[in-house]
Amino acid sequence: MDRKKLEALVNDMSLEEKVMQLVQIPGSEYDSDAEITGVERGQAKDRVKRLAGSTLGIWGSRRLRKIQEEYMKEHPHHIPLMFMLDVIHGHKTVLPCPLGQGAGFDPGAVKKGAELQAREAAADGVHATFSPMADLCRDARWGRIMESTGEDKLLNSRMSAAMVEGYQRHIAACVKHFAAYGAAEGGRDYNNTELSEHTLREPYLRAYGEAIKKDPAMVMTSFNSINGIPATGSTFLMKKILREEFGFKGVLISDWGAVGELVNHGYAEDQKDAALKAMRAGVDIDMCSGCYSGYLEELVKEGTVSPEVLDEAVLRVLNMKNDLGLFEDPFRGLDEDSTPVITEEGRLLAREAVTESLVLLENKEKALPLRKEKNAFIGPFADTKRLQSSWAFSGEDENTVSVSEAAAEVYGAENIKTAAGCTMFDQDAVTARGTCHIDNWQEENERLLKEALETAEWADTVILCLGEDSTQSGEATSKVSLQLPAVQLKLIKEVKKTGKRIVTLIFSGRPLELKEVRELSDALMICWLPGTEGGHGVLDVISGKTSPSGRLPVSLPYTVGQEPLHYDAYPTGRPKPEKGPFEYTSRYLDCENGALYPFGYGLSYTSFEYSDARLSGEKMSARETITASVKVRNTGNMKGSVTVQLYIRDVTGSRVRPVRELADFKKISLNPGAEEVVSFEIKEEMLRFWTAEEKWESEAGKFRVWLCDSSVDGEMLEFRLV
Ligand code: NOJ
Repeated sequence: MDRKKLEALVNDMSLEEKVMQLVQIPGSEYDSDAEITGVERGQAKDRVKRLAGSTLGIWGSRRLRKIQEEYMKEHPHHIPLMFMLDVIHGHKTVLPCPLGQGAGFDPGAVKKGAELQAREAAADGVHATFSPMADLCRDARWGRIMESTGEDKLLNSRMSAAMVEGYQRHIAACVKHFAAYGAAEGGRDYNNTELSEHTLREPYLRAYGEAIKKDPAMVMTSFNSINGIPATGSTFLMKKILREEFGFKGVLISDWGAVGELVNHGYAEDQKDAALKAMRAGVDIDMCSGCYSGYLEELVKEGTVSPEVLDEAVLRVLNMKNDLGLFEDPFRGLDEDSTPVITEEGRLLAREAVTESLVLLENKEKALPLRKEKNAFIGPFADTKRLQSSWAFSGEDENTVSVSEAAAEVYGAENIKTAAGCTMFDQDAVTARGTCHIDNWQEENERLLKEALETAEWADTVILCLGEDSTQSGEATSKVSLQLPAVQLKLIKEVKKTGKRIVTLIFSGRPLELKEVRELSDALMICWLPGTEGGHGVLDVISGKTSPSGRLPVSLPYTVGQEPLHYDAYPTGRPKPEKGPFEYTSRYLDCENGALYPFGYGLSYTSFEYSDARLSGEKMSARETITASVKVRNTGNMKGSVTVQLYIRDVTGSRVRPVRELADFKKISLNPGAEEVVSFEIKEEMLRFWTAEEKWESEAGKFRVWLCDSSVDGEMLEFRLV
């Protein structure tokens, strides 16, 4: 349909019909099996069900076809209903959780993964996904760190942009949660944020901005307030930054219930006032709060919201439906035979994504790869198919390959042993789904431990599969402890006493405190929440078929007390020197300042040597570029991939600049003995920041450069911007 026809359609619609295009209601209004992803607020009235422009949380061609047929019959203008769903890291084939995808440092693979997810979702009738989450997150207490690609603005930017491109081959993408949701105070979900404008603009807004350049159909507002103003009611964020500066032309949707929550924030007096404030901020769709359906008509009738503003919002929604081709084919993806199935090709892609995501942290005396001897897989993650996050609800656990299944394929079931070792949870642990109480928890754990120790006695190497259950990361899962469950820590200590070689695999959606675990383990590897092909991908790496290549997309702390923790901190006036005395410098008395394992870190089975790091010049003007290059050689005896990282520091500025910032990265693969010169172009635009003059500009002066293997190493080079 062309623009003129769409405008004519809007002109022909009644006020009620228009308002309802801006209303989204839960899928449970149409189908009782729908996934509820927020607090439900009662049944929608019949007229809302008949006219609401979109719904969420339901999928499946057959049921959506039925809903669409009935809906369109009733709708005065036969405008199709739009189906949205949280397809976050997989629809049927589930890839590693976004944090794991971040560890791959491979935007190309992430794009392919997003395309696969979108293809499957489209075949299940889904029109739009609420992804990517471009929120920068520097706080492991915030459970939604699992949904981010990490603590770095450049990495997040590339990953979010890649996801938008991948998804939009088949469905609409939604960049969320605008803005700075990841900066929640104390790491407590939904909590408020206080950010100076330069911190907001530089690290926090970056990835949204880069993702929006890829033209996503939607952006979602965040729940939090920023500097006293709830995002969902913020004209500064939604109008000045999102629309004017970022040039976003698509549909702005609120998060679930966020319009109504303006009342709880103390920003709106009641639901009607909340509807008015959200409309003023430019929120097009009210997701599930009932404020627009309840009061927007009234607001337009009394002239508080102008009909033009309403029409513009409606047009944006209809435009999205039009771009999705729904006017031509409202039953797109709703043929019965279009139901997606997991394909070999999809599994392969997922498996590769897993191998790329695994981060090897320790490998004492080459404990990995596993030898062909007696290997015992012990722990609550050894034999489970629950390897995906709580957001992958459309993917079924039964399709997942567990670690023990994959191990049996590689070594033969008769040659390995498996034991649960302990329960997943400590007694009465609180998760997103409630409290986990097991009546005979004590006896059960005694039994499991006994069995585990017998199994360990049999083995030469014990592969301990530990971590946090998927209900302990994701939405509403903030925690003040980053320790493994005590029952799991006890297991590792007891197994250690057997004297067997210990390889610890950590499955988790958030960084955990691993200092003690590292001391107890010979090898230590982070597996995140790896998804459908989790077992295969993990076995590919621990068996030595593939060398690990993942890099930490987040700093792993010594202790939760360091959070928020990130490598790109600002310097201080009293930096802690490398060698003492340390008194009266910026430090903790009882802990290092930096991470236990820093951003960008990760080991391989082979070794890489960096040499001949150089810059093509000592000076550059704004119109010139400098090439930074380094020779990388595989000095081990196995093929391997390495992510070469370029960091820059602006030494002085009108505002202080971070001690290092990731400016670029490249992943290369090298055969044993092979070498490659990896080069990056440094351009003036990479040196810009939000200056004291409140402008995006670079400033002349000295810059430092590192070409290296993680955020804390590398030889330092220098140049001047003139
Ligand atoms: C709330 C979450 O914050 C958001 O990420 C999600 O997309 C919506 N609910 C819809 O499920």
